[in-house]
Amino acid sequence: MTQTDLEAAGVDSFLSCEAKQQPIWPDADALRRATDRLREVPPLVFAGEADVLREQLAAAGRGEAFVLQGGDCAEIFSDATADRIRNKIKTILQMAVVLTYGASTPIIKIGRMAGQYAKPRSSNDETRDGVTLPAYRGDIVNSSAFTLESRTPDPQRLLDAYHVSAATLNLIRAFTTGGFADLRSVHSWNQGFAANPAYAKYERTASEIDRAVRFMAAAGGDFDALKTVELFSSHEALLLDYERALTRIDSRSGLAYDCSAHFLWIGERTRDLDGAHVEFMSKIHNPIGVKLGPTTKPADALALAARLNPDNIPGRLTFVARMGADNVREVLPSLVEAVRDAGVVVTWMSDPMHGNTFTSESGYKTRKFDTILDEVAGFFEVHRAAGTVPGGIHVELTGDDVTEVMGGTEEIDDEGLARRYETKVDPRLNHQQSLEMAFKVSELLSQR
Ligand code: PEP
Ligand code: CO
Repeated sequence: MTQTDLEAAGVDSFLSCEAKQQPIWPDADALRRATDRLREVPPLVFAGEADVLREQLAAAGRGEAFVLQGGDCAEIFSDATADRIRNKIKTILQMAVVLTYGASTPIIKIGRMAGQYAKPRSSNDETRDGVTLPAYRGDIVNSSAFTLESRTPDPQRLLDAYHVSAATLNLIRAFTTGGFADLRSVHSWNQGFAANPAYAKYERTASEIDRAVRFMAAAGGDFDALKTVELFSSHEALLLDYERALTRIDSRSGLAYDCSAHFLWIGERTRDLDGAHVEFMSKIHNPIGVKLGPTTKPADALALAARLNPDNIPGRLTFVARMGADNVREVLPSLVEAVRDAGVVVTWMSDPMHGNTFTSESGYKTRKFDTILDEVAGFFEVHRAAGTVPGGIHVELTGDDVTEVMGGTEEIDDEGLARRYETKVDPRLNHQQSLEMAFKVSELLSQR
């Protein structure tokens, strides 16, 4: 692979388009040194793995699988510890077992992990008590502490992001293939959850799953195959300097892949048709997503599909609807119907988080558990009415016992948010809320 091959593949065409949400790097030489180095480092994922995921996402689009994508709004370098990574993987695997039962199809597991370090912001600056500093744009750019030194974009952080991603992925690969993910252990963790009096309402489903697992074992089910799972990595492809520098030519096909993660998505704020993000993503061959907010028009969705998946390849393009519970039943039908009627192949997912954020009376950025569930329910209703497939959910969660989202059986209220509110950006479902959500979505899936 040479940079000349990449240029021949046209991956630099985005440079002549407007790139929104990029940091203002104060030192151009330091930026060049960092990206030059990133152009030489080993890829984090392989093109062949991205191809496997594309096939699986295609199956989800047909209703033969269901996607669970989850993780932090913004990963923090200092949170990349064995305990926290394990808790997050554990939560995703626990949810996946419950969803498998409801869906009766494979659950495709994708972490918002090992690279989710860049955040779009509503303003370039932040002012506190008369002091204005650059906004926090995620650990790949600057640090959240409100000092000039911390907030100044530092290109060394691009290299740090690569190394922390590599360490995180290494642990993900170890946990998912080294015995930790054995279906029987994951299932026994869930039984503990449902046996807790607070969650006893899920005990029946948990014991049904238990019978299914015991039946498989008794029938001589191949538990070797159930000892390992695949957990793919993903993040928002926001910072184009980083994504371009990790793009490689696949030696088998000669095609360009962004090897920073298996799955990459374009955010709601950067999905302009003529913008640099859409242009760049049109040139890489990973499976990709686009977030669609409540202002999206059917023509926008069709134009994005034409630009990003002109050959209509199944699994290449996922639309992630993040409408808000109040809008999903009004706005989503026309998009789903337009896509369906045009014969455009996409996998539809629901992000029930980003349209439902508000500030609580005590001043915390939060979401309500019931509202989140209502958006997912609306997403399923819309697809049922259109005869199309609800293919997955995209959620912000953590494996820890934080208090950032209100409600759930634990009934976290405004006062409760203060107990353990840790997120630097958006509020995440905690471990219990994540499992509770899995049980609820499992019910929706069983009626799909
Ligand atoms: C996110 O996923 O954290 C995010 C910023 O979402 P959106 O682009 O949908 O607002
Ligand atoms: Co977020």
